[in-house]
Parts: sequence; structure tokens; C-alpha cells
Amino acid sequence: MNNFIEIKNLKKTFNISSNNQLLLFENLNLNISKNSTTSIIGPSGCGKSTLLNIVGLLDSSFHGEYFFDGILINNINKSKLNEIKNLKIGFVHQFFHLIPELSVMENIILPALIKKDKISDINNDADNLLKVFEIFDKKNMKPNKLSGGEQQRVAIARSLINKPSIILADEMTGNLDEKTSDEIIKFFLKFVANHQISLMYVTHNQKYADMADTKYELKNKNLVTK
Ligand SMILES: Nc1ncnc2c1ncn2[C@@H]1O[C@H](COP(=O)(O)OP(=O)(O)OP(=O)(O)O)[C@@H](O)[C@H]1O
Ligand SMILES: [Mg+2]
Repeated sequence: MNNFIEIKNLKKTFNISSNNQLLLFENLNLNISKNSTTSIIGPSGCGKSTLLNIVGLLDSSFHGEYFFDGILINNINKSKLNEIKNLKIGFVHQFFHLIPELSVMENIILPALIKKDKISDINNDADNLLKVFEIFDKKNMKPNKLSGGEQQRVAIARSLINKPSIILADEMTGNLDEKTSDEIIKFFLKFVANHQISLMYVTHNQKYADMADTKYELKNKNLVTK
């Protein structure tokens, strides 16, 4: 199995007060292979977003070994960590997290500006994504003029601008109606399959969870394969 992400014996606690700790994961193991889709389902508060934050290198306070494409994350320096975080991983959130003052186009290209690529190349990539996601005509508008489904397509395009190896999506359809959710999830799953990108997504919807290659349930502080 081509293990792209491998987390072994993950233990995660949060300090709630000076003498009170919340134990979220214990001996949790996670494997994600290249170009695969993985779903995570589980009750509210079980730690799904916390797990995505750890996988996405936004939270490094945990015990256990984390290998990203063969690199042991625990030991690498800050600049290498930031390079992986910014260039190899994309994030999509439930509430889109678009910057309201920026246009659709500016929101999409923002993560690419840290790279040294030519701005004309970045603009071309963004134009292609705008076309693929059928929001090209909204390019110069502010996000609040768009529907929820359109805003999420902008957020998905933004997550793809740096051509990441993996996208982490936290309840990406949680704020959309069923028809729009169905369209977004089907379109996104097809897109990542066609572009050799891995996708790990959290959902409360069993129907969407079942669409992934690997289906996990977060239960009793651990992941159970379904
Ligand atoms: N920074 C933090 N400090 C202390 N506790 C935290 C922190 N972040 C999360 N928690 C707690 O950890 C638990 C898991 O939170 P998390 O957001 O990962 O759950 P979730 O499974 O994503 O829930 P939901 O389905 O409601 O989004 C919750 O009880 C939460 O209160
Ligand atoms: Mg959550």
C-alpha cells in the first residue's frame, strides 16, 4: 500500500483547566494512500476537526509519529513544516472562510502569492479553476454577492491553487442545502480523482461518507474502519 500519510499511536489531550485534561485520541492510527479519498464520520465533539488540524499541520501538540510522504514531521524544522503546510495541503471549511474585502479571483490566488511563480502563471491557473468550477463570470465580484454553493466552489478553487497533494475538508457541505451539497461533493470527488489528489473529508452525512474509498468512524478515542 502506497502510504502517503501515516500517523502512528496518536495521543491528543487538551488542557481544559489547571487540573483537568480532555483525552481525545489514544493509540490512534491513520493511513492515507496517494490519490485516495477518506471520509471521517462521528458525533459532535469526538475530535474530527482536531484530527484534521493535526493532519493539516495546524496543530503540532500531540504524541505519536506523523509521516507525511515518508518525512517524519515530528523532527523537521519550521520552514520545512511551513513549506509542506502551504504547498502540499489545501483546506476547505464549513463556513468557506473567504476574505470579504477581496474579489473571488483575489481570494483564489492568495495562497499562491507566497510562491515564487510568475503572477501570469498563477492568474492562468486561477482562470482555469474558475472555469472548471463554473464561476468564471463571478471572478471580479465580492464573495458576499455569491450563493453559498458558489462561495464554497471559490473556497475549493482556492484550496487547489497550489496544486496540493491532499485536501482536508471539514464539513464542506454543512452549510449548504441538499441539492447543492450533492453537486459539490460529486464534482469535488470527480475532480480529485482526475487530478491525482487525495481528499480527506469530515461529514455528518452517511451518504457522503459512503462515497469515499476509505471510510472511518471516530469512536472511543480511535478510528474504526467501516
Ligand atoms: N483549543 C482547545 N482547547 C480545549 N478544548 C478543545 C480545543 N479545541 C477543541 N477542544 C475540545 O475538543 C473536543 C473535540 O473538538 P472538535 O472540534 O475536534 O470536535 P468535532 O468532532 O469536530 O465536533 P463537531 O462535529 O461539532 O464539529 C471538544 O470537546 C472541544 O471542546
Ligand atoms: Mg468539527
